[in-house]
Amino acid sequence: MSHTNRRVFIRQYRDGMPLPEDFGIEDTVIGALPAEHALVKVDTLSMDAWIRTTLTPGAFHETAGLGSTIRALGVGQVVESTAAGLSAGDWVYGPLSAQTHALLPAGALTKLDLSNSIQPRDYVGPLGLTTGLTAWVGLIAVAEVEAGDTVLVSGAAGAVGSMVVLLAKARGARVIGSAGGPDKCRYLVDKLGADVAIDYKNADLAAEVAAAAPGGINVFFDNVGGEILDVALANLAPANARIAICGAISQYSDLANVRGPKNYLKLAERNAAMKGFVVTHHAARFVEAKAEIAALMREGKIVLPEHVVDGIDHFAEALLLLFAGGHTGNLLVQP
Ligand SMILES: NC(=O)c1ccc[n+]([C@@H]2O[C@H](COP(=O)([O-])OP(=O)(O)OC[C@H]3O[C@@H](n4cnc5c(N)ncnc54)[C@H](OP(=O)(O)O)[C@@H]3O)[C@@H](O)[C@H]2O)c1
Repeated sequence: MSHTNRRVFIRQYRDGMPLPEDFGIEDTVIGALPAEHALVKVDTLSMDAWIRTTLTPGAFHETAGLGSTIRALGVGQVVESTAAGLSAGDWVYGPLSAQTHALLPAGALTKLDLSNSIQPRDYVGPLGLTTGLTAWVGLIAVAEVEAGDTVLVSGAAGAVGSMVVLLAKARGARVIGSAGGPDKCRYLVDKLGADVAIDYKNADLAAEVAAAAPGGINVFFDNVGGEILDVALANLAPANARIAICGAISQYSDLANVRGPKNYLKLAERNAAMKGFVVTHHAARFVEAKAEIAALMREGKIVLPEHVVDGIDHFAEALLLLFAGGHTGNLLVQP
């Protein structure tokens, strides 16, 4: 049986932020399935910052070829399968990409465990690799947050940042979040329960961080890089602070000219540690992470707000929205 697939592909590379004309949309036909493959109807795609880094030559993540479908992780339902372990109707997670139907080798797909009221969409949300698991790994495995710590989170109103705020509060920390604009700051305090929100676009960042953390910062979870990393270094607690470098979204559009931390000598002065991480390197702890997050979801302590963009034709707009800061919480695309 053949199926029509609508896909969003890369027309041309561009230095700096991509423009809508850098992408194309087309319908293709998927015919008979090769052996050990599955055809998946894409349900929800996770809009992640790493996608941007596949869109230029020499990219940080492997560059996607011109004409190829924009890469993205997502969940979907198997329509047809030639693989022993997968049947029509199964829910799966994998590199489904910006399209309505994905034909993939079965080995690229993970069958979802939907027991205990877990919904497929949770695997691109609180239980998602690039969302909840990233937050858990950075905050708990890397920064080893403890009850009573003062935690600063940059990009706090985004997907990873929101999860960090929720997890840090659940672990008994005091949380300061930074985000752009008064609406996002209200969201941080009212919806997520952050103790302090700093609007980095309209405030003296250095002064506000110093005022919010008079005893210093024990943990800094950095999604943004640039200025806020220097501000955090200058405000570290007198001893044993931990900085987890999750990402640096403020720097992704000009990777040849990344702004490095001027205040890095504070690490030596305050016996502090700064460590970067790739979430997949901590796969050995995913079972533990998922168990903690799922338990907090059942207790109602983790509810991750979503911003859903409908229609695969709007995928490129959603990608640009991510970098314009036009969303709050977890940005998802439903083809
Ligand atoms: N280490 C890993 O394994 C791993 C895995 C997944 C994700 N990550 C990283 O985690 C971070 C968050 O990713 P996400 O998917 O959750 O994105 P997100 O936080 O939902 O969205 C990005 C947010 O970053 C802020 N932003 C965008 N451009 C900015 C700029 N130039 N300066 C300052 N802030 C800017 C915007 O918020 P405002 O409106 O508040 O500015 C925007 O909403 C990214 O750095 C990503 O690369 C790392």
